[in-house]
Amino acid sequence: MRSPEPILSIQGLKKHFKLPTKGFFGREKPVVRAVDGITFDVIPGETLGIVGESGCGKSTTARLIIDLIHRDAGAILFEGKAMGEALSPKEYRRHVQMVFQDSFASLNPRMIVRDIIAFGPMVHGMPQKEAEELAYSLLTKVGLDPARFAGRYPHELSGGQRQRVNIARALAFRPKVLILDEAVSALDKSVEAQVLNLLTDLKAEFNLTYLFISHDLNVVRYISDRVMVMYLGECVEIGPVDEVYAHPRHPYTRALLSAMPSMDPDKRTMEPPLAGDPPNPINPPPGCRFHTRCRFAEDVCGTVSPVPTVRGSMHFAACHIGTPGSGHSRAGETT
Ligand SMILES: Nc1ncnc2c1ncn2[C@@H]1O[C@H](COP(=O)(O)OP(=O)(O)OP(=O)(O)O)[C@@H](O)[C@H]1O
Ligand code: SF4
Ligand SMILES: [Mg+2]
Repeated sequence: MRSPEPILSIQGLKKHFKLPTKGFFGREKPVVRAVDGITFDVIPGETLGIVGESGCGKSTTARLIIDLIHRDAGAILFEGKAMGEALSPKEYRRHVQMVFQDSFASLNPRMIVRDIIAFGPMVHGMPQKEAEELAYSLLTKVGLDPARFAGRYPHELSGGQRQRVNIARALAFRPKVLILDEAVSALDKSVEAQVLNLLTDLKAEFNLTYLFISHDLNVVRYISDRVMVMYLGECVEIGPVDEVYAHPRHPYTRALLSAMPSMDPDKRTMEPPLAGDPPNPINPPPGCRFHTRCRFAEDVCGTVSPVPTVRGSMHFAACHIGTPGSGHSRAGETT
């Protein structure tokens, strides 16, 4: 089966942050390999979840994709057009918007809600009156009565209300892709559920595609069609969410999921949970980056980087065990 044309195609994306500290003995400054050659497609209309431990590069990936920080290498194609080449960054940014976790920091404290939402479209040339009408209508769409909320300042809102304003502000650009970086993580569970339902409704109404970043594996399972698992700046597994959760292929994914509480005793895995912290992204381990923590690691894992291999429809994992002829004693076995 041929997969649909991607709305976003991320190809070999890299971001290495140079740290201001000096290297030893005049050596080069250390670099954090925050995102280190990530390639994946986003299918129109899907929600692609992104998971992985703290520091694995999820937010950096998101910031690179919305062009908030400049990539060191790689290409971002939107509907087949390369951003910065066939598609100008300004036009691209209108199509791809982001909602951040910290709802306070991302709202201008000196602007009322109506103006916060209307600002973006006005910068893009919409007349003030029309932009304000749009703001009122979007407030209604995100469940905030414009009569009560349009004139308020961010500090006069609850966390859930602020996040609704952030969503309305992003939607004001009429984007096709919305990146949600821990967008519901700071909310109380009941408010989180309401905002998740709102996101589901808005996605259908506005034909949106979501990239949904969260450390909460249950929420990702609930909202996503596919999921991508990151480890130390790399994508180690990607596939349909039900398939990845039921049959994870990568030992890291298995360990990550085993830490997830399950209500169903039959679903509890016997996999030992992850031990220790991830290695330092300044000096990531050679070969498979997970080999320092993997219970299946063999010599080949410490020297050769595994290439992603397909398992089933659109289910990829980067592990020598899944790759026939890789040199791992279990090569070709179903992990
Ligand atoms: N501006 C920066 N300068 C230097 N290092 C950075 C910068 N931004 C991020 N990093 C580093 O890059 C790595 C990836 O960070 P990132 O914020 O993308 O992780 P994350 O997966 O979003 O983590 P979390 O789940 O905690 O939000 C981390 O090691 C982080 O310390
Ligand atoms: S390549 Fe080797 S170290 Fe990496 S996950 Fe697979 S078995 Fe473990
Ligand atoms: Mg983050």
